[in-house]
Amino acid sequence: MINCGASQNMGIPALDLSHQSSIEVNKIYTEDCLDTMASMPSNFVDMTITSPPYDDMRSYKGNSNIQFKAIAKELCRVMKEGGVVVWVIGDQTKNWDESGTSFQQALYFKEVGFNLFDTMIYLKKPRGACGNNQSYWQTFEYMFVLSKGKPKTISLICDRKNKDSRKGDNGTKRLHDGTLFNHSRGGYGEYGRRTNVWEYNVGRGHSTKDEIAFNHPAIYPEKLVEDHLISWSEKEDIVYDPFMGSGTTAKVCKLNGRYYIGSEINAEYVEYANKRLSWY
Ligand SMILES: C[S@@+](CC[C@H](N)C(=O)[O-])C[C@H]1O[C@@H](n2cnc3c(N)ncnc32)[C@H](O)[C@@H]1O
Repeated sequence: MINCGASQNMGIPALDLSHQSSIEVNKIYTEDCLDTMASMPSNFVDMTITSPPYDDMRSYKGNSNIQFKAIAKELCRVMKEGGVVVWVIGDQTKNWDESGTSFQQALYFKEVGFNLFDTMIYLKKPRGACGNNQSYWQTFEYMFVLSKGKPKTISLICDRKNKDSRKGDNGTKRLHDGTLFNHSRGGYGEYGRRTNVWEYNVGRGHSTKDEIAFNHPAIYPEKLVEDHLISWSEKEDIVYDPFMGSGTTAKVCKLNGRYYIGSEINAEYVEYANKRLSWY
């Protein structure tokens, strides 16, 4: 049985999963992510990228508390060996005290079996005052890159301009005892790999051009998702977003030849997401 209709649109073949699961790809499930994951086999998902609700920061029309520990354990079960989870999260400050939820969660992921492969920063170009005026402007979130063992895909983006470029060459070096030692110097190109601080313009017209997405109060930028997909996944990989919101992850998967599966508990957001997806 072929249970993936929409994949034909993505320039990648339909995916027949019927031998291992009732789950369909290229679909957003309107339910709690724990229910979606319960119908996935173990070692099934290549990559997860998501921004979970945290610290009661936004109401999401009544859905801001998650069963984090159960979700972390389930993610560990459904991810393939070498699969990567990108967990985008910040902290709330209350009574002059930051919650620390971000790091608590990152450390819990380690407890249940993930490696903390990298702690990356999602830097938002300042667009106006945020936070209180007794501290420096809050302008970043963490992007915890968690992996089951060593990531099976590492395709680092090289778009940081080097000061100059140099061809590799062979040479000799005189050693302390007077003998000559043959050695080769590696060269480097015009561009080198990025740092792990990624900066994005955010907000209307920047995070996405799709106005409909801004019916959701907390979207992340499409470019952020694309950069992670390029870094940690391959074409035709299965990518999961347990908190799909306005459908950002699904759209970027669709445009980049990845199969997506999403969960979103709020039916209104799923409606916006599906409408958004129908345009691509
Ligand atoms: C930070 S938003 C995600 C936004 C998304 N990254 C985007 O770009 O639109 C978190 C979403 O998780 C949803 N949510 C909350 N609890 C959930 C649960 N247990 N299972 C699935 N979705 C949930 C909320 O309704 C909200 O839309």
